[in-house]
Amino acid sequence: MAEILATASIGVFDSGIGGLSVLQALHQELPWEHFIYLADAGYAPYGERDSAHVLRRSEAIARYLIESRKVKALVIACNTATAAAVATLRGRYPYIPIIGIEPAVKPAAALSRTGHIGVLATRSTLQSEKFAALLASQSPGTHLVLQACDGLAAAIEQGDTGSIARLAAQYLAALGPLGHHDGAVDALVLGCTHYALIAELFSSSLAGRCSLHEAGLPVARRARQLLLEGGLLRQAPPGTRAFELLSTGARHLLQAAADRWLPPADAVQSLELAT
Ligand code: DGL
Repeated sequence: MAEILATASIGVFDSGIGGLSVLQALHQELPWEHFIYLADAGYAPYGERDSAHVLRRSEAIARYLIESRKVKALVIACNTATAAAVATLRGRYPYIPIIGIEPAVKPAAALSRTGHIGVLATRSTLQSEKFAALLASQSPGTHLVLQACDGLAAAIEQGDTGSIARLAAQYLAALGPLGHHDGAVDALVLGCTHYALIAELFSSSLAGRCSLHEAGLPVARRARQLLLEGGLLRQAPPGTRAFELLSTGARHLLQAAADRWLPPADAVQSLELAT
């Protein structure tokens, strides 16, 4: 086990651009840190693939970021990959903080008055054992309305605005009545980091009928806390830009998303990363 340096970077990954919603929050909470962001776009989407594929990809990415790039912490900025791989990765790399993300069901349930919570997530996340455990931990009065959103992450990844609008409307309608009356969903969880990038679209369609919940900020706060406890916070800003951006697929998609969502970063680099 190599020594972990406070000056090392923090590794962050997702299947594509969705994790930028988490990276924004990380940069806000940890403005002195340097981040290596890896979009596994060549092997995406994760959410409609079997969990063995997502586990293999997560293992390859963790090997690269932790063993080759010597990151001091790993943030899995993907609900689907967290469900498939966080336990395995924590077992393999117990010496660095590995922070995952899960659908923000708990904060949504805490705020809901009707007790009906909508959860939009990938099929793979909703079918996972980790999500089953999250459901089992809810109080009996909480009723979860689950909706797998096939195709939505891919449409967001491609910036296909027509498909995004059509799919978002279709999946919202599938949740049944929305609002503050008995039996209606009054809290909506965006349980995929891609969906957080279109939170404004959801919010304008919902027109105040539901509160919206995503977990980028809590994940960033947790990362900060673990780095602090481990004595691993940087003591000065990096001498370079805060982000190194890598993609195993189409570079221009990550570049366009980074230009929109992040402060200036270096140009996206291609990365070959076999499973
Ligand atoms: N962004 C990922 C998540 O949070 C999934 C997107 C995909 O299906 O690849 O679940």
